[in-house]
Amino acid sequence: MERLNLGSTLQGGKYRIVDFLGQGSFGITYLAKTRVSVNGQLGKLEVSVNVTIKEFFMSDFNVRSSDGVNVERTDSSLVKNYRQKFRREAENLSKLDHPNIVKVLEVFDENNTTYYVMEYVDGCSVDDYIVSRGHLPESEALQITRDVCSALSYMHGHRMLHLDLKPKNMMRSKEGKIFLIDFGLAKQYLENGEPESSTSLGLGTPGYAPIEQSNYRQDGSFPETLDIYALGASLYKMLTGQAPPDSSFVLNEGLPCALLHQLGVSKNTIAVLEKSMAPIKKDRYQTVKSFSSAMSHRFVDKEETIIQHVDERSNGYEHTKEDSTVESPSVSLDVGKPSSQGDSHRLPFGFIFWLISIGLILFVAFNLLSGNTKKPVEVVEEAPVEEAVADILLNAEDTTAVLSELGVATVEEADATIFQEKLDAILAEKYEAYEAAQKAE
Ligand SMILES: Nc1ncnc2c1ncn2[C@@H]1O[C@H](COP(=O)(O)OP(=O)(O)O)[C@@H](O)[C@H]1O
Ligand SMILES: [Mg+2]
Repeated sequence: MERLNLGSTLQGGKYRIVDFLGQGSFGITYLAKTRVSVNGQLGKLEVSVNVTIKEFFMSDFNVRSSDGVNVERTDSSLVKNYRQKFRREAENLSKLDHPNIVKVLEVFDENNTTYYVMEYVDGCSVDDYIVSRGHLPESEALQITRDVCSALSYMHGHRMLHLDLKPKNMMRSKEGKIFLIDFGLAKQYLENGEPESSTSLGLGTPGYAPIEQSNYRQDGSFPETLDIYALGASLYKMLTGQAPPDSSFVLNEGLPCALLHQLGVSKNTIAVLEKSMAPIKKDRYQTVKSFSSAMSHRFVDKEETIIQHVDERSNGYEHTKEDSTVESPSVSLDVGKPSSQGDSHRLPFGFIFWLISIGLILFVAFNLLSGNTKKPVEVVEEAPVEEAVADILLNAEDTTAVLSELGVATVEEADATIFQEKLDAILAEKYEAYEAAQKAE
């Protein structure tokens, strides 16, 4: 029996093992409870808090002694080397303080091995979350990836590589917060570009590790591009629900994109996947920052201005497009520039355009029908409408369901067809009603 028994304690009873969470090549992960006391002026409260404990245990080498506690076969230099690395990585991790990185509380030796204690995330891995939903809507996949980018960019800023990024190593709390976990392969680099420990880079996980990870030759640079490949591969899994193809397949055949197209993933996101998973490291994004800003282009690309005039002489509509974009956009109402930060970037803008347009059309029609046609009406951004729509989409349990309620399958479809068609149809209808009303007078 390899695992510690449930009910076992560590650190003189401070931690009590209550459940088993997982086992990998380097360790066994447990759910444990610890008691914390809260002291008030008048009294003391004792509460039990969940923590996660990871035990160093190399499944191919170590065994548990017959007492079910001590770890044996720890003398080989290989095991010693990895145990030292396990401890050092935990210590390095404990120096990181980021909302999307699980916090390490302490590291200690016991039972002839090493343990580290970290905060417990009450939820499930992003991988389990994907499995439960088949695949994730693009907006949600991008949102998760953005949180991972934030954590990764912070880690890279501290010259640490994760080297085993994948949805199984991302936890999603019940509230939807994302945490990076499992730093078993993580590597700290010194300022001079040398890795802190001499152990070779771990192989990572097939599909997520780029082709060069298995025999990476240190060249004095900090190889962020290893994590960037895995970041793209993780996004691929989120969007398709399928394991990303092995890096040698990507090298020979290119990234298979048919399913992505079929699922209506935007061209920009597909381009981001292709670039981050490029077989040649120089062809990838070189920093997490450039990866994450490329993800956001999707929204900026669609930025466009249109002013609708009600022409006094003809009493008709005239559309004046002031296209300020490179890509030909498929929607045509100004919702203002999305701010460079914040939730607005996370939303499918096609719908915002569509919904805002309906509001604006009703507004214009109301003005027409109530005889208020003296002044040309300039349609500009209606912040409260945008906020309301943002709210609806943010709070939507299932963006796909919202899409289908709106009668479209994908964001792209909405952008490309529905919006323009519906807008034209509604405009024509309103104008006809207006003309009829004029004639009747
Ligand atoms: N901080 C945590 N909070 C909650 N569950 C965790 C946490 N860390 C790990 N787990 C659970 O334990 C499993 C294995 O942990 P992980 O650190 O990925 O180790 P390994 O992959 O080496 O087995 C994870 O898939 C997750 O379900
Ligand atoms: Mg893991």
